[in-house]
Amino acid sequence: MDKPVRIALIPGDGVGSEVMAEALPCLDWARDRGRRIETERFPFGADHCLATGETLPDAAFLDLRDGFDAILFGAVGDPRLPDGRHAEAILLRLRQDLALTVNFRPCRSWGPGARLGLDLEVFRENTEGPYCLQGSTEPGRAVDLAVHTEPAVRRLLQAAFQRAGQRNRPLTLAHKANVLKHGHGLWMRVFEDLRSDHPGVSARGMHADALLCALVQDPAPFGIIAADNYLGDLISDLCAAFIGGMGVAPSLSWAPHRPFRCSVLAEPVHGSAPDIAGKGLANPVGMVLSTALLFRHLGWEPEASALETAVSRALASGAKTPDLGGTLSTQAMGLAIRDHLPH
Ligand code: NAD
Ligand code: IPM
Ligand code: MN
Repeated sequence: MDKPVRIALIPGDGVGSEVMAEALPCLDWARDRGRRIETERFPFGADHCLATGETLPDAAFLDLRDGFDAILFGAVGDPRLPDGRHAEAILLRLRQDLALTVNFRPCRSWGPGARLGLDLEVFRENTEGPYCLQGSTEPGRAVDLAVHTEPAVRRLLQAAFQRAGQRNRPLTLAHKANVLKHGHGLWMRVFEDLRSDHPGVSARGMHADALLCALVQDPAPFGIIAADNYLGDLISDLCAAFIGGMGVAPSLSWAPHRPFRCSVLAEPVHGSAPDIAGKGLANPVGMVLSTALLFRHLGWEPEASALETAVSRALASGAKTPDLGGTLSTQAMGLAIRDHLPH
């Protein structure tokens, strides 16, 4: 019998717990089909931080790192903690200290509100660039340091080239090497290097500013877009707009070199959405599709595709939350999706 997969649940803040509540029955469904899953819920987020002063204690981090295989994450961010320090200490730390270099953000046409037949995939570097949290504020001057290292850049681009080769899709690297000569110069060198290793992949670099214009005019010719942490963050939200917005965009982050037991984290692209939190208005599709990405990563292809098909069918049947022009609550949408899962 397979060893159970241990999944840590971190709902986080705002709509994080609302959308997480619709992913949990999907885990139960996989369990009913014979997948062995153990879960444990962690309280980290704004409420916990305000009540105890704790963000992500070291002991809990080590427990997550060494005692779990995967993390299912909702979202962090709370207006009561406006400097976002708890979000850095929780989410950015998990991404960085678990070395989850590859952030995969696929944009498919899941249903209404999406461009028909769209199939774009963003590979975002997830641990470095200006998100490395090194900088300073001095009187009249502020610095955010952007650090790029060759191992992380290579891991991210390797994953993007591999995917482009497997799926026979064109690959575009978004960069600003015309200005960011050092950091993006490194990206260009590694890109050229990998391009010669993958002669079958149609790969080009493009200045990110020109890329954004071309993307908005017509996303269809783009297959896979690779980018550093900052550009990838922006590009992936733009791409979410093509498929119906923040509520439907999934993501999966992983460490291809698997330095620790816990080497994968699934989370929707959206944040804690304080403007709609606590009202049952959040769309759970991004969270449920992130769960499907996690199933696929664990080798559970039948469950992954059944979940994706259930989302498509629910949307096609007219089930929609308000962000897509419908009237269903988060819970009702979760139920509508699960109605289309095979028993
Ligand atoms: P956001 O993604 O939370 O919200 C942007 C817009 O999208 C809002 O109008 C919101 O109502 C809408 N939206 C988001 N998720 C939705 C859903 N599931 N269904 C329907 N509509 C949805 O981005 P923001 O407003 O810029 O940030 C809010 C907070 O979240 C901030 O503290 C930010 O730092 C944090 N944040 C966290 C993550 C994360 O945890 N990965 C990602 C992005 C932002
Ligand atoms: C995302 C978010 C985060 C990021 C923030 C909340 C740190 O925008 O997951 O895309 O920029 O990575
Ligand atoms: Mn973002």
